[in-house]
Amino acid sequence: MSRIDSAINIDDLKRMAKRKLPKIMFDFIEGGVEDEVGLRTNTNAFRDLRLVPRYYVDTSKREQKSKLFGNDFASPFGIAPTGMAGAFRKDAELFLAQTAREANIPYLMSGASNASMEQGAKLAGKNLWYQIYGAKNRAFQLDLVRRATDLGLTTLAVTCDVPVASNRERNRRNGFVRPLRMTLPTILEAMLHPGWVINYYRSGGLPMLGNWQPYADKTASADDVAGLFASQTPDASQVWGDLEAIRNAWGGKLLLKGVMHPEDARIALNMGVDGLIVSNHGARQLDMMPSPLDMLPMIRSAVGPDVPLLLDSGVRRGSDIVAAMCMGADFVLTGRATLYGATAGGLDGVKKAVSILQREIDLVMGQIGALNLDALGPHFLLDTVRAEEERRNTGAMAVRR
Ligand SMILES: Cc1cc2nc3c(=O)[nH]c(=O)nc-3n(C[C@H](O)[C@H](O)[C@H](O)COP(=O)(O)O)c2cc1C
Repeated sequence: MSRIDSAINIDDLKRMAKRKLPKIMFDFIEGGVEDEVGLRTNTNAFRDLRLVPRYYVDTSKREQKSKLFGNDFASPFGIAPTGMAGAFRKDAELFLAQTAREANIPYLMSGASNASMEQGAKLAGKNLWYQIYGAKNRAFQLDLVRRATDLGLTTLAVTCDVPVASNRERNRRNGFVRPLRMTLPTILEAMLHPGWVINYYRSGGLPMLGNWQPYADKTASADDVAGLFASQTPDASQVWGDLEAIRNAWGGKLLLKGVMHPEDARIALNMGVDGLIVSNHGARQLDMMPSPLDMLPMIRSAVGPDVPLLLDSGVRRGSDIVAAMCMGADFVLTGRATLYGATAGGLDGVKKAVSILQREIDLVMGQIGALNLDALGPHFLLDTVRAEEERRNTGAMAVRR
């Protein structure tokens, strides 16, 4: 049995990833912003939910097949964009792409990925989606849309929740800035993870931002390309009109990632966006944000029943995915969960993360009495059950009187 096989849950994969990585790298994955209240907000939102099971439902032929934008997927979740994954494990994005295809789930590749969308599409085929950040020079963002079109990608997501850089204090303390400014303790700590250090330097150090390389000089180093990217994004001058320009340039499905306010959800829909990713960027932007799970019912009410709503941030369990769907999500994305897998065990690690979540979804569906995803809904939530019983009891009291 390989070490990855011994992982029972996502937390096991996280511990394995932590052991592999120098602190400066693990903190980049794990960290939130400022006091990191948001990290707890996200996970607690799931921990505070209660599902009420129903019994004597024949769930012997349970299935978690899902449909989104007319495409069939094996499960109701996909992989969220995580930039610079290649720095944690060489070729991490290629492992995510390959797993997406083999497991038939979507992989939303980051606009700040090391592998390029062209490499990702070769491995993931129609399971590759692409995430785009607004750029100061609008020609870059439109050219990224053109490349996605030329590749025949079906789905693009624009991330709106990075108007400015966020205050990630772990990174600043560790010297995870551009160019890297590692302190002596950081360097000494890194020596405790020789496997990562050797691989990192053997494969040339800082990996290239593959999607941005074509916009830099032919001789540009990975650091030069990172500099170009950093000079372009975040772009605080982006407004709704910029999203509209992407909408006009892109013929496929368009998602807006990072929507948290119901009014922003309504504006985006009026602009022709096809679906929304309710997300707080895994608590990496604004520490005081509510959890996407708490905003989801309001956003569902704002957009109506038919608009695809995806959710991410804080998902660590199959039960979190089931709960999100009961709360009104159509689909869920995992950021750190699949990244822990990639870091801990490369391709096998990503597959392991996906299979852990799939197994957990299956078991929770069996536990609550849901044969398929259509059976999920608010009727499994404690709050709904309680409200319904109170309504009934009030009705019964009125009749008795
Ligand atoms: C290391 C890391 C890098 C990320 N990079 C991006 C990115 O490039 N683009 C983006 O839209 N979101 C990015 N995100 C946010 C994720 O897409 C997703 O919203 C978040 O990870 C979900 O929370 P979770 O990690 O708790 O699942 C990143 C998250 C992490 C952890």
